This record gives sequence, structure tokens and C-alpha cells, in this order.
Amino acid sequence: VVVKDFAGSIMGRLADVFKKAIKEAFPSISVPLVLTEASNAKFGDYQCNSAMGISAALKAQGTAKRPAEVAAEIVAKLPACPLISKTEIPPAGFINVYLNEEFIAKQCGEISRHGVKLPTIESRRVIVDFSSPNIAKEMHVGHLRSTIIGDAISRLFEAVGFDVLRLNHIGDWGTQFGMLIAHLFDRFPNFQKETPAIGDLQSFYKESKKRFDEDADFKKRAYECVVKLQNFEPEFIKAWTDICNVSRTSNNEVYDKLDIVLNERGESYYQTRMGAIVEELTTRSFLREEEGRHLMFPTGCDIPLTVVKSDGGFTYDTSDLAALKNRLFEENADWLIYVVDAGQSLHFDTIFAAGRDLGWYDETQKRVEHVGFGLVLGEDKKKFKTRSGETVRLKDLLDEGVRRSEEKLKEKNRDKEMTPEELVAARDAVAYGGIKYADLSHTRTQDYIFSYDRMLDDKGNTAVYLLYAYARIRSIVRQSGVSESDMTAFATNNEHLPLSHPKELKLAKQVLKFSDVILQLVDTLMLHTLCDYLYTLSSTFTEFYSECYVVEKSKEGTTTVNMNRLVLCDVTANTMEKALRVLGIRPVPKM
Ligand code: ARG
Repeated sequence: VVVKDFAGSIMGRLADVFKKAIKEAFPSISVPLVLTEASNAKFGDYQCNSAMGISAALKAQGTAKRPAEVAAEIVAKLPACPLISKTEIPPAGFINVYLNEEFIAKQCGEISRHGVKLPTIESRRVIVDFSSPNIAKEMHVGHLRSTIIGDAISRLFEAVGFDVLRLNHIGDWGTQFGMLIAHLFDRFPNFQKETPAIGDLQSFYKESKKRFDEDADFKKRAYECVVKLQNFEPEFIKAWTDICNVSRTSNNEVYDKLDIVLNERGESYYQTRMGAIVEELTTRSFLREEEGRHLMFPTGCDIPLTVVKSDGGFTYDTSDLAALKNRLFEENADWLIYVVDAGQSLHFDTIFAAGRDLGWYDETQKRVEHVGFGLVLGEDKKKFKTRSGETVRLKDLLDEGVRRSEEKLKEKNRDKEMTPEELVAARDAVAYGGIKYADLSHTRTQDYIFSYDRMLDDKGNTAVYLLYAYARIRSIVRQSGVSESDMTAFATNNEHLPLSHPKELKLAKQVLKFSDVILQLVDTLMLHTLCDYLYTLSSTFTEFYSECYVVEKSKEGTTTVNMNRLVLCDVTANTMEKALRVLGIRPVPKM
């Protein structure tokens, strides 16, 4: 990513000055800059740990210098920088950096006047392929992970100003449609005139599968149906549309609840494009025939792609080749992301290798990646299932979350302080936010254990804890009685937000880290880092609030408001709100 404006980014600006200093002090050396947040306040706020690497590189060149000497030479060349108040070089050769309090005060003042700004990054056209369930099979928890992660990645990119296309690559074109359509014809002979009442698509699927397995005649008809469908015969397209609609309606219910926006572009969309792909691969001699199948063997891959089956049909591989080409050339995207479970990594490695072999893209120009994730496990650490061993329907899972969240709010008598509308808003924010946050706060690539009790716990790193913290800060501001216009006036009159108490400064520094977290996230796509940030921000706020009065009541009953602290509360809440929104969690002002 190319950053155009670092906005609040501290790391970005420190990196700039340190790179300059190193280049000037050691022009012959090129080692990557090592800059981190200090692990402990006694080492300052940030640390530059490049001196060791440079010292080693110098030694290799025949000029030995101790890391501490190297560090001193770097510091001597540091350009003037408003962010830094002082540096320190302990004997080991680290460079401890202390932030300038003036700078912190100025940044916070700016946020209070102009809101939370994110760094501007050179715009890229990104396609995020996520959710992507299969028709006729209910969306399950695996698709839930993809939905939550894909949506958060899309929100992140939208927040930094990228041009994002969210695509739902629904499995709507496989051979299973043959038997579904044949079954539909039998069950609803009148289907041309009226919309068939398929009802539950899963049982409909089971019925047709049973016939398919037991009845040779039916099986033959099913195959014929596939061919006719893939030739776009109107009657078959109508039946197919009806079936897809049932699935679409139930999926949309889930998306609506979770505030997910998606453009459906399923495998069917690529039917004609798949034909073109086969032609391209054939003329360019990329296909090898084996037992009637046409295979492609991409460089460095163990398993070939099946581009055409022996019956002439296309496969999941074919549709992904077509989708890849479409996204690169018709959509002109320069960053492609596939949010799909880690179990499919081999499939994507092979597809991407094929794309490179075909010269469709090269890695220096475009970023094409599989963003994988681990499994959702039950509390028994086995694959998440219902008690009776069936896959859990997403809708049931969400409903159960809502039920438990309402129960919890009532247990705590929260409902007594809220209007019915506020209660519903809080209940849904807790339930859906809890489910999303439980997913996002775990390292994406690992499995995680799904537990309602854990996600609805108001202690620890959970959405509920954060939502409470957020609502509490909002209520502090509300109950101070200070009007919005008074706050604005204060912010306007104080270009630097006056901060002096160590806990005020600590909180302000944590607020200011937001831009850096976002910048790193755009590169790593590891959303748990944003969750960790939010959690630290909330606990830093708690520390601040327990030591610093925001509103003081005297014995006589008069109240004094510490305006600078109140503004700091507001800035903290606004930062939390922005972060929660990136995660797709709805902050509510009352909880
Ligand atoms: N429908 C597939 C599944 O449920 C996921 C599709 C992911 N996207 C893709 N372009 N292959 O396994």
C-alpha cells in the first residue's frame, strides 16, 4: 500500500525520520527499519531497534561498531521532528523514543475538532469474495466466518477510501441442480404458472437426492436437466430461478440481521465465460486429456485442475478460472481477496498458479490472495454441531444469540432503564456484535471455540465489555450536562487539548495509535489486532476514569466539569465507534 497522508499515524511519521537518519549516517547499509511500540513505559513510547542489524552489516563490511555507537550516530542525524521529545540509548543499542506531549495535545485537539481521521492510502480497486454459500444447502458456521471476516475486510477498505466490490460467489450452478429441477417438475407440475411452494430447501434437497440415488430413470432425467439448464432453456432457467430464490430469501434474512451488504455473483454468472476459458486454454495448449477429462497442470502444483469433466461439464475449478480472469480483466481489480476456509488453500494456490502461468497477472503488479480461516469448534473442541449431531443453521444460531442476550440484559435489570426500542437495539447489538467479535478477535488462521457464555460475558475481551465501555463513556458525556455546542466551542478555543495527568496522557497516546493499527491491518488483514487495540483502549479508559474526575460534585451540590477530560472522553468514544464500525459492530449509546 502507498500511504498518501499519514493523518494521525505516528509509526508512519517516525519511520520516515528514522529512515532518513539511517540513510544519512550509514549510506552504504541497507537493512529494513525495525520500529516498534515500546513494550514497557520505562523504555519510552516507541523503540527503534535497527542498530543491531546495522552493526552486524558493518561488521560484514569490515568496520566493526557497537550497536550503541551505531544508535548514537543515527540519533545524531535525526531530522527535527515535532513528534519526538527525547531519545535514549541504553547500552544494548536500542533507541527509546519519547513522544512530545505538545504533539499529543495537538493531535487530540485536532480529533476533537475534525473527528477521527484515517490515513489516506492510494486508492485500489479491491474485490472481496466472501460468504459464498451453496444453494440448496443451508449456510453454516463455516460460511458465517467467511461472512463476518469478509464484511470486516470490506469495511476496513471502504474506511480508507478503496474502491471495493463485495462479491458473493454463490454455488448456484453445480450438477445438483439436475436432480433438484427434475424433482421440482414432478412435485409441482404447475410450476410454470405459479411459484412452487418448495418450503424447506434442505428437505427438498434430501428428497431429490434420495430419488437420485435409488431411481436410475430419475438419475438419467436429472443429467438431462443439467445439460438443458446449462444451455439456458427457459423452462429450466425458470425452475432454477425458483429454487435459487428460496435460498436467496433465507440467506438475505441472515445478511440483513448482520448488516451485511453483498452483490450476488454466483458460479452461474460465469457459464459463458467458462466456455471462453476452455477455448483459450485449448488454443494455447494448456490442457492435457486424461481419461476423457481435460486437465491443466499449473507450475509447482501437485494436483491438476479439472477444467472439463468427461461428460463435458465444467467444475468448481473452471468457474474459479473464469472468475479470476473476469476480476482481473473485466473488473480491472488490482487486489483480489478470497475469504474462504483454510481447507481450500490448495485449490486457490493451484488457481492462482494457473493465472500466473497464463500470464494473466504478475505478483509485482497485483495482489491476489486467499484469506483463509480456521474451523468453528463446539465447546467439546469438535466440529460445531447441534446436540443431535446436525449442522447448525445460521438462523437458529443467531436467534439463540438474541434470546440469550435479551435474557442477560433483563437479568441485570437493564431493561428498566431503557425504552423498548432501546432494549431491542442493545439486545441485537450484543447478540450480533458478540457473534462477530468472538470470530474476529481470534487469530483468523486458527480454529476457535464457539461459546455463547463466553461471547456474552461482560468481562474480558468481548463485544459486550466493549459495548458497555462505549455506552458508559457516552453516558458520562450526556450526563455532564455540557451541550454539544459548548464542547465544540471548547475544542475550537483549544488548538491543543490541555493534558497533564499521566493517565490523561496515557489514554491520549492509546487513542492516537488507531491510525497505525489501521495501516498495519490494511496490510496484514488480521482483524484481531483491531480487537486487541479496542480492548486496550477500553481498559486504558477505565484506568483514566478511576483516577481522573471528569465531573466533580461538591458537598454543596454544585458540579464542576473538567472540560479537557470531557473532550478526551468524547474523542475516545468517537475512536471506539469508528473501530467498532470497521468490525461491523453496531455501537449503541445506551446499554
Ligand atoms: N461455495 C464455496 C463453498 O461453500 C465457496 C466459494 C468461495 N469462492 C470462490 N471463488 N471459490 O465451499
